[in-house]
Amino acid sequence: MQKFTYNTPVCAAYFTLILQTASAMPEHQLPVILEEIPEKEMARYPVRRTKGVKTFVRTKPGGVLMPATYAHLAKRFYNLELRSDDVVVAAYPKSGTVWVAEVVWTLLNPHALDTLEAKPHHHRATLLDMDFLHPTRAEDNSPLLQRFLSECPGGRLEDGMTLQLAAVAPSPRILKTHLPINLLNPDMLNICKVVYVARNPRDVCVSLYRFLGMMKGVTVPVEFQDFAESFMSGSLHYGPYWDHLEQAWRHRDHPNLHVVFYEDMKKDVLQELKKLSSFLGRSLTDDQLRSIVEYTSFGRMKARDAKFPVVDLNGSFFRKGEIGDWKNMASPQLDALMDGWIKEKSRGTGITFKYE
Ligand code: A3P
Repeated sequence: MQKFTYNTPVCAAYFTLILQTASAMPEHQLPVILEEIPEKEMARYPVRRTKGVKTFVRTKPGGVLMPATYAHLAKRFYNLELRSDDVVVAAYPKSGTVWVAEVVWTLLNPHALDTLEAKPHHHRATLLDMDFLHPTRAEDNSPLLQRFLSECPGGRLEDGMTLQLAAVAPSPRILKTHLPINLLNPDMLNICKVVYVARNPRDVCVSLYRFLGMMKGVTVPVEFQDFAESFMSGSLHYGPYWDHLEQAWRHRDHPNLHVVFYEDMKKDVLQELKKLSSFLGRSLTDDQLRSIVEYTSFGRMKARDAKFPVVDLNGSFFRKGEIGDWKNMASPQLDALMDGWIKEKSRGTGITFKYE
């Protein structure tokens, strides 16, 4: 338990009130149960791990497949303590999460752009999911573990190192996650701002296939066609693509949610930055916005990645950064299959993607 020192009786009363209020807040009960996935079923999974978490659970309802390490942290994510000045950047994996998180940070810190070259991206935006994707072990002895030991004395790795580091991080925090919105704190939109990043499923699928192929300790022993079919059936990590998108899309008129499309960012980034800065309540000059466009361009982010990799991969996290790589990967038959799937799933949602 953290100790507070009080300067005045008024202050003491104030903290007592806060502590009482916090402890009186009811814990949200997880809206899903987590089922273990039998080994036989996992044998058909198109992604193999040679190290790290190898067992999986799935939410019921929802069918969201997650590493088994998620199971004991799920309640913590669902009860994540948020602050009014937090910005949560949520997205299905490979939708442009890192790009948008970097943009959000620069919009909040337009006078500190030159510091981007000096610190890794994770100092500006925390991927909370690391706690179950790649949980840190005591024997890892990484710089991040050292930071945890010094910043969170008494903290326990099994309670989520990233979650605990985020809890003591200064405001304003940028918190990234790939969890669908219904697995995050149900009060989130009433507390803080959320930016949801959407990208067309064709390119998400290609980007994910290529990303997993570059990951150390991971192999994808299937052809792209089979992988794309698994993606469409919703049986990969983080579950069905459309459910993920719809969880956010249904809140698109909420004043605290802003949906940004990767394709719109590619087409007219300045315009999207203006929308984002107004959503974040910031007023930036055109010069500042133009500098941000430059600092967060694919080329500049890729160059920074060479110094401080976002992920330690056999290749660059900043792979192509384009719309339409799908065309280079999919056969006409697969494209027709994907086309039918998109038409069926997007019918009546009002969601359309741009491919040019
Ligand atoms: P590709 O694999 O198609 O190149 P996420 O951050 O959600 O994992 O998404 C990663 C994808 O976003 C990758 O797509 C990456 O190249 C792309 N990306 C990252 N920064 C970008 C930028 N500044 N401009 C365009 N695309 C970017």
